[in-house]
Amino acid sequence: MINKLTSLFDSNNKQIKLTEKPLEQIKSMRPKMQDMPYDDMKKRIAEMKAELKVLVDKVPEEAKLSLVKIDRTKGLPKYETDIQNKLYEFMPEVYAMADEIFRRKTGHNFHDVQLKAAIILSQGQRLTELYTGEGKTRTFQLPLLLYSLVGRGAHLVTVNDYLSRRDGEYAGHIASELGLTVGIINSNATYKFVPDEDLLSVKGEEAVKERSEKTVDESKMNAVNLIECTKREAYNCDITYGTNNEFGFDYLRDNMAWDLSQLSQRELYFCIIDEADSILIDEARTPLIISGIPSEADTEKYSKFAEAVTDLQEGVEYEVDHKSRSVTLTEAGIQKVEEKLGVENLWADYSMAYHIENALKAKAMFNRDEHYLVKGGEVLIVDEFTGRILKGRRYSEGLHQAIEAKEGVEIQQESKTFATITFQNFFRLYKILCGGSGTVMTEAEEFYKIYGLESVAIPTNKPVIRKDYPDLIYKSQEGKFKAVVQEIKERHAKGQPVLVGTTSVEKSELLSALLDKEGIPHEVLNAKYHEQEAKIIEKAGRKGAVTVATNMAGRGADIVIGGGRRGDDAWKEIAELGGLHVIGTERHESRRIDNQLRGRTGRQGEPGSSRFYVALDDQLMRILGGEIMTKLMNMVGLQEDMPIEMKLISRQIETAQKRIESMNFDSRKRIVEYDDVMNQHREIFYSRRRNFLDLFEGSMGKFLDGARILDISTEHDPEILEKLKQKQEEARTSAKEAIKNILISTVQSGLENIVEKTEKSKLEAKVKEYLLKYIPQDMLNRNLDIDFSKVKSDEVVDRVIEAIEKSYSEKMEEFGEDFYYLGKVISLQNTDNLWVDHLELMKDVREGIGLRAYAQKDPLVEYKNEAFVIFSSFINKINDEISQRILNVQKAVRRVEPVRIETNTDQIDDINTGDREFIQGEEIPVSSQSGAAQNAARFVDKMLRERKKQEASISTNKSESSTAVSAKPKEIGRNEKVTVRYNDGRVVKDVKYKKVEEDVKKGSAILI
Ligand SMILES: Nc1ncnc2c1ncn2[C@@H]1O[C@H](COP(=O)(O)OP(=O)(O)O)[C@@H](O)[C@H]1O
Ligand SMILES: [Mg+2]
Repeated sequence: MINKLTSLFDSNNKQIKLTEKPLEQIKSMRPKMQDMPYDDMKKRIAEMKAELKVLVDKVPEEAKLSLVKIDRTKGLPKYETDIQNKLYEFMPEVYAMADEIFRRKTGHNFHDVQLKAAIILSQGQRLTELYTGEGKTRTFQLPLLLYSLVGRGAHLVTVNDYLSRRDGEYAGHIASELGLTVGIINSNATYKFVPDEDLLSVKGEEAVKERSEKTVDESKMNAVNLIECTKREAYNCDITYGTNNEFGFDYLRDNMAWDLSQLSQRELYFCIIDEADSILIDEARTPLIISGIPSEADTEKYSKFAEAVTDLQEGVEYEVDHKSRSVTLTEAGIQKVEEKLGVENLWADYSMAYHIENALKAKAMFNRDEHYLVKGGEVLIVDEFTGRILKGRRYSEGLHQAIEAKEGVEIQQESKTFATITFQNFFRLYKILCGGSGTVMTEAEEFYKIYGLESVAIPTNKPVIRKDYPDLIYKSQEGKFKAVVQEIKERHAKGQPVLVGTTSVEKSELLSALLDKEGIPHEVLNAKYHEQEAKIIEKAGRKGAVTVATNMAGRGADIVIGGGRRGDDAWKEIAELGGLHVIGTERHESRRIDNQLRGRTGRQGEPGSSRFYVALDDQLMRILGGEIMTKLMNMVGLQEDMPIEMKLISRQIETAQKRIESMNFDSRKRIVEYDDVMNQHREIFYSRRRNFLDLFEGSMGKFLDGARILDISTEHDPEILEKLKQKQEEARTSAKEAIKNILISTVQSGLENIVEKTEKSKLEAKVKEYLLKYIPQDMLNRNLDIDFSKVKSDEVVDRVIEAIEKSYSEKMEEFGEDFYYLGKVISLQNTDNLWVDHLELMKDVREGIGLRAYAQKDPLVEYKNEAFVIFSSFINKINDEISQRILNVQKAVRRVEPVRIETNTDQIDDINTGDREFIQGEEIPVSSQSGAAQNAARFVDKMLRERKKQEASISTNKSESSTAVSAKPKEIGRNEKVTVRYNDGRVVKDVKYKKVEEDVKKGSAILI
């Protein structure tokens, strides 16, 4: 242990020592920089960019897709490290220029410790711990500027919209002098920075007036230099500021795009995270989810269908098959329902048929008080084995709504997940990640194990003189809060400012009420209104101020004692009084959060103090429990407000905290382990999807000068345009080939199966019946010319495939140019719907899997097993649907438009804890069928109905499907034989998945 500690310490020291030389270089350039005009700096930066571009051109296109996670511990490929080495060479000069711009604009150079941190961060894949108030937020601009020169995008992540706006605008003042652009992504708007000299032309005189002082100060940023722009413009800036949520959501949205022109992000190349522990640990407890109510949900429908089946009779108008859990209408039943609904053909509309089936199931197979209860206007499922109510659970696939309609209670719309990712896996997509915060080192292990990031502690600029008093321990909450109020009262009377931290909004309110009673004026903050709170907390250091805040409130804002500038008279007066005093009203589960609170005071070597209050009935103390508690109880005796103050107890508390920290780490690790399984699915599915988009749109998803090809105007170099055209032709040929290969391999595998199992006399009938799923009758008759009585069985397959190939060519003739459009609709529309179903199914499996632990099985292993089977069947389903549609689609459906609609917006839910505060409403693009698209639905309604049936039985018979698969291999298909097609059109059949895994994940090949 000691060895390990010393070696960690040594490595930390070594890294810091290595900053000395570059630090001297930067500082020695200061005199020279002082005379350098901005224009010369811009010129120098442009030269560096050009030099880097030569190296960037060597990065393969696939690597820029950002669909596959990066394993940082393994190191990056040479083409990436070459770029980084070049950057390291440029680093001292770039930092020296930035340092000079800061000096000109703010009057201060960077402190040495800031430069040291920036030097360390310029190597990437590292986090730095810099004490609060050391100016981290400013420091992070240095590596951000440096990496933006690469031209692949440089992101800075902050914890909320307000901070990204404030810091983005601030950074714009610096970056623009180097000719670099800054964009900002907020949840409901996106902005671009407008330099002062462009203000007049872009924003008018008012703005110029507002900027008359030209000051550059974090706390004075008011968006005057920002102008709204499109998302894509903001992402195309050299530097982009935003929150973790927005970057993550945009990633997910991009992977739901129907058109390459809808993509907003480019590569996920470089990312630096401010307040890294909050984001990589606290926020990472809950994944990002885009969910919504699918467009077809329409509650009235359910009632209409319930009504239509209500007086049907079993045995006459419908039949029930309890074994397969299915119900079917008889001819008489169909007629009756059609009459009631006033429609001619019940089967003409796939969704109608589907709803009728549910309504009938609800009526015939689900009995009130046996399968479910109706209570308080809700339908509650009864567990068939235990008889207990399954709270919060609902039947899937619209069945629950059908039962609600039957019972006449309010029909609750069900939201579905369209896309989801954990932050852990999102941040793994960036090639280079770094960041920092005031509290990093306690969580160094997690940062390394989960994100592959090294943590480095940087010494403070000036020694910390803050006084941390030992904890005071009380018997109960009452005594504790009384004492807290007493201390506030005393310090307030002296004029000393006090900041009180609480662990929840309720506790803040409780304390506020107590303070009111004592007549002590105070402010209460609870991390809801970031901008206002930042303004309030900046004033928390004023004379006599009392501020009560939850831990999160006012993050990122600097508290200067006195409320003005460091060193002014007000500052000196408060310093005399002992500076800002921080009171913690409870120890948090994690030491890190306590340290964050303490770090609010004693910044930049100024005086300050802190004290935590603890009660024996605090949550944490209960966890501590046992012998110590009994001892403590005796020591405090019966008195409520007699505290004990002991070093020993503080140490015990820390031990308890460490234990909880590691428990929490385990549970986060668990979430990631589960998401890793989904991540493989995501990687493959999204790569495949992007690949299709690229092929059909003929762009190959290429980037040129950092922008997507579709951004290129015709003014471009004719030579390049010619090349692009050629590329497009190639892509289109590949698109045709890809669909053909899917069709053929799908038909072939089914066919081989039939030929093998069917006796010769029945072969013709069987084969023809099977083929009708994929090919219209007349087309089949025209192209399949075989006498079944004469050919050998194994020849049948070859002949059929020939016929399919011929039909496919016919179809291509027929469609001409339309194919590129139609093909996209066919291959994406189903695919997306199936993906949503897949996510739902995986969610169900995930929720149910915990129970498996009782059967002495590792639920994670079980989950992986099931996931493998489910995913293979998902891919097969996609291929089968594409195959079923392609030859069946008629010219008449040519104008099928995938429609982007916005569904109910505030549907982002939270699967784990329900406490994600910052996620706001989402606009959810959903593929939907409307107008002309209804035609398309006709062709496939039969297939879709079948599929729905199959799936309904999978999700309701979860336990059955799981026993059937438990013997399957653990890893997802690494040894499974697959067939893939490469972008160049090459098809590789029956290879082991592990051989082509990399290519599939890179997106250069797709599974077919
Ligand atoms: N090199 C510097 N010289 C003077 N003031 C600085 C310097 N760097 C940062 N500051 C100021 O110090 C204060 C604290 O900085 P901040 O970025 O909020 O710190 P942190 O993010 O580390 O908590 C801010 O008011 C900032 O403007
Ligand atoms: Mg900060």
